[in-house]
Amino acid sequence: MMVQSRTARWRRTLLSAASVVALAASGLIATPGRSSAAGPQPCDIYASAGTPCVAAHSTTRALFAAYTGNLYQVRRASDNTTRNIGVLEAGGYANAGSQDSFCTNTTCVITIIYDQTSRHNDLTPAPPGGVGGQDNPVPADALPVTAGGRTVYGASFSGIMGYRDNSTSGVPTGSQPEGMYMVTSGTHYNNRCCFDYGNAETNNLDNGNGHMDAIYFGTLCWFSPCNGAGPWVMADLENGLFQSNTGGSQNAANTGNRNPFVTATLKNNGTNFFAIKDGNAQAGGLSTRYSGALPTSPGGYSPMRKEGAIILGIGGDNSNTAIGSFFEGVMTSGLPTDAAENAVQANIVSVGYGGPSPVAAGTLNPGSTISLRATTACCTTRYIRHQNNNAVTSVVSSGSSALDKNDATWIVRRGLANNSCVSFESRNYPGDFLRHFNFQLFRQPMDGTGVFRADATFCPQAGQAGSGTSFASFNYPTRFIRHFNNTLYIASNGGSNAFDASANWAADVTWAVGTPWVA
Ligand code: AHR
Ligand code: AHR
Repeated sequence: MMVQSRTARWRRTLLSAASVVALAASGLIATPGRSSAAGPQPCDIYASAGTPCVAAHSTTRALFAAYTGNLYQVRRASDNTTRNIGVLEAGGYANAGSQDSFCTNTTCVITIIYDQTSRHNDLTPAPPGGVGGQDNPVPADALPVTAGGRTVYGASFSGIMGYRDNSTSGVPTGSQPEGMYMVTSGTHYNNRCCFDYGNAETNNLDNGNGHMDAIYFGTLCWFSPCNGAGPWVMADLENGLFQSNTGGSQNAANTGNRNPFVTATLKNNGTNFFAIKDGNAQAGGLSTRYSGALPTSPGGYSPMRKEGAIILGIGGDNSNTAIGSFFEGVMTSGLPTDAAENAVQANIVSVGYGGPSPVAAGTLNPGSTISLRATTACCTTRYIRHQNNNAVTSVVSSGSSALDKNDATWIVRRGLANNSCVSFESRNYPGDFLRHFNFQLFRQPMDGTGVFRADATFCPQAGQAGSGTSFASFNYPTRFIRHFNNTLYIASNGGSNAFDASANWAADVTWAVGTPWVA
């Protein structure tokens, strides 16, 4: 099956750009599932401009008008089987419904992000490198968004998650010119190394200056100055995240891009020029943040020494503590023209990326933002919050500090171990979740492991005190989220620990789910 569909995919992607455009213009391949009303998709645009895609990755849509192959593969926890997720129509959106049905009552991760070009530069979880260990796959349903009016899934990276392909075909090496873009998010980032997409070392090690050429997005300010609060699009050229040839920003107007959907571009001619642009992926054009010489001091970047591996979500040496979101991205052979980049941005805008269908705050529906208030008579002004990585209850009121309010606000996610339960992501530490460890609750970064997923999954049921909600631990179903001496545990009524005490049991395990302290 796999071999047949791959062969068919080869044939399809061998259609010339001209025939694709002609087909699209004739309306023959314009159907309701297409990525935009008509016309070429990003890789058709780059091909027409003489800089063909050598890699095209997306979990949301086809990046060629004629593409009918698979976008990504998911693996479910219940039986470790996999399913390929394709597009609804040629050139169309991801068949997210196929993922939803396959992953019902279990959880799925993304095990392959297929390359839509004929080169099969597919991305799989990255191996250990000079810095980080083996990377985990991203959860498949953590980032529901709309595109073209449909629900699709982006790839949401917490720490220790990333993808790589070390034996690619057609990706520029040495001082060959290339371009790339990705659509990411200005609402999910951090200052760790390195949320990258692009060209990197083939041996997972830092092989020195100029051995990488990848788009970075986040708030890791490597060279001064960085203007504003970020996050910024930068060029990871190895041993540095560059905003210009001198490293730091030369553009006072570039204070970062916090749009929910961000287009980030990088191009590099390999010898003496690179350019960085970004834009709002939902509207308008691209802003050039830098366009000029490659760094010359320190040396090693001019000419470049590209190696041709592809990374996503990690640094060249597999530094893997960054977080971020990925919706689509491509790499080209040859330096894209400004006109091609502008046309691609227009195509991205035409997709109409949007947030997930709106979810009311204060509910337990995934995507909702909530507060969780204790109901025991002692403690009805206390809320579940994190503090020094622990989970505790604190008194929070309208007069509380912004920090306390943020700490006491949680985003409801589909249960990381079972999508009929829920998980709670920290509002101010994206990618960190409430999880138990030795029966105590903590805020910790989601590491993708099965244990973490189970420890961070809670199944709501009617509150044991007669109103409100109680939360059973997914992997210890007789234990419930309980406060005891203002610290949070998963407790078992009458069990052997102090925090299992029967006194106050029903009230201590009953929570009022309410509107969030921070929107
Ligand atoms: O250039 C920044 C980072 O430095 C690279 O991604 C990584 O390989 C090195 O640690
Ligand atoms: O968590 C606060 C209180 O501490 C609980 O209501 C009680 O069980 C314990 O004494």
